[in-house]
Formats: sequence, structure tokens, C-alpha cells
Amino acid sequence: MNQNADTKEAIKRWEAFADTYSKNHTEQGDLHKEVFLNPTLFSLMGNVKNKKVLDAGCGEGYLSRILSKSGAAVTAIDYTPRMIEIAKERTPHNLVIDYKHGNCEDLNALGDKSFDLIVSNMVIQDLANYEKAFQEMYRLLVDGGRFIFSILHPCFVTPECGWEKTESGEKLHWNVDQYFYEGAYEQGLGDKEKMLFFHRTLTSYINTLIKTGFVLERIVEPMPSDEMLKKYPSFEEDLRCADFIVFKLKK
Ligand SMILES: C[S@@+](CC[C@H](N)C(=O)[O-])C[C@H]1O[C@@H](n2cnc3c(N)ncnc32)[C@H](O)[C@@H]1O
Repeated sequence: MNQNADTKEAIKRWEAFADTYSKNHTEQGDLHKEVFLNPTLFSLMGNVKNKKVLDAGCGEGYLSRILSKSGAAVTAIDYTPRMIEIAKERTPHNLVIDYKHGNCEDLNALGDKSFDLIVSNMVIQDLANYEKAFQEMYRLLVDGGRFIFSILHPCFVTPECGWEKTESGEKLHWNVDQYFYEGAYEQGLGDKEKMLFFHRTLTSYINTLIKTGFVLERIVEPMPSDEMLKKYPSFEEDLRCADFIVFKLKK
């Protein structure tokens, strides 16, 4: 794998995968979003009524639609043209969402201090230049504005990771390797598609956020709630290690 593969290559793969990916999404997103990410994101966001919100890397747009239904004025950006098409198709006429095609690493079409809140759900690990994206998010926020983003947990989802199993398939423990590697790596998503992600250490994420000027307000490593475990018992194994981490930052 070419460690220096770029965002354009990642987007080429998203373009090919957009329809298959979106098929798994209801108005609550996919199962992992319903169980882990939505409860965390909504509790961190609080009341969004009348807030100017950017959904950075909106995908097929479920989160933008929820935010818009909650009274936010939503701008939604994605760099994959097919994702924006699907998001528009899925948005009923009575919801006003400003969908735009754009790269989170360079959002010069949007003015300084345009948003009260920026949310980016499972996007930052797709970006070759995450430093530039953080600078853009900082520029776009009003003073005191919040940036909330979720990513694959970099301590557990590394370029080499997975369950150690017995011959009969019993899961023994989760293996982690190549933690200090920084750069592009491939990961299967769905049956055959190999997506391109970019790994960095937790230290790099946190130090880059601090260098950008953000104040770290909270970190959450989401776990399935009792209510979700009752609904989806197979998520019990996710009490063993964290798949995701969510950051809340203040400008
Ligand atoms: C895992 S999906 C998440 C989509 C959406 N946030 C959600 O939660 O359903 C990642 C999304 O990031 C988008 N993306 C990847 N790189 C991007 C970039 N440089 N700028 C904007 N969007 C990007 C992809 O096109 C894809 O729609």
C-alpha cells in the first residue's frame, strides 16, 4: 500500500461504493451509528434549534436531515459527487438543506465564521491532510463555536488489527499492530470494497487540534447502552474494546 496515497484516491473509492454504502442507511444511519454514534453526537450537540450547522462529509445525509428536522440551518458538504446526489434524492422538499460538493481540506467557498457548530461523523480518517481540515473547521466557526467529530478509534482500529480466534471461531481477544504507522492503509468495508483510510496516533490528533487553536472540551469512547444491548444483543462484544472516539472542541 502506498503510504502517500491521497484524498483523490480515497474519493474515487467512495464514488464507486456510494450506492452500496447508502443502502445500509435508514433515517438513523447504519447500525453502528444508531447504537454508538448518534446517542453520543446528540448528547454533545445539545439543542441545535436556530443554529447554523455544517455537516462536514455528510454522505447520504441522514444526520443533516435529523439536524434540519431539529430546527438547525444546515449546510452539508461531501467530496463524493454520488453521495451528494443520493443525499439530495433522500431529502424531502419541506427540508431546506444547502448541499454542496466540496473537499473538507479546502472549503474556500464558505466564509469565515459562518457556523455555530460543525459536525463531522466518521470522515476525518478519510482525509490525507487532516491538519488542513482542522484549520478550515476553525476558520469557519464563530468564536465560541463547537466542532464535534467522530473517527475510528486510532488506538484499536489500526492498519493491522482484528480478532484472534480459536479454530472453531471463538473470539479470544482483539489484536492491534502498526499503531505508530502514519499514512494511508486499506480496509475492507462491505463484502469486497477496499476503502482507503489514513491512520494517525491519538497523540497526533490531539496535538494537531491544540496547535490549530481548539480547546478540548470532551472526549467520548462510545459504548452500547443497556437499551441498545436489549435491542441488538450481538453488540455485547463491543464492551471489550472501543471502535470509535468522539471529540468535542471549542474555538
Ligand atoms: C463513513 S462516510 C460518513 C458519512 C456521513 N457523515 C454519515 O455519518 O453517514 C464518509 C464520508 O466522507 C466523505 N469524504 C471523504 N473524504 C472527504 C473530503 N475530503 N471532503 C469531504 N467529504 C469527504 C465520503 O464521501 C463519505 O461520504
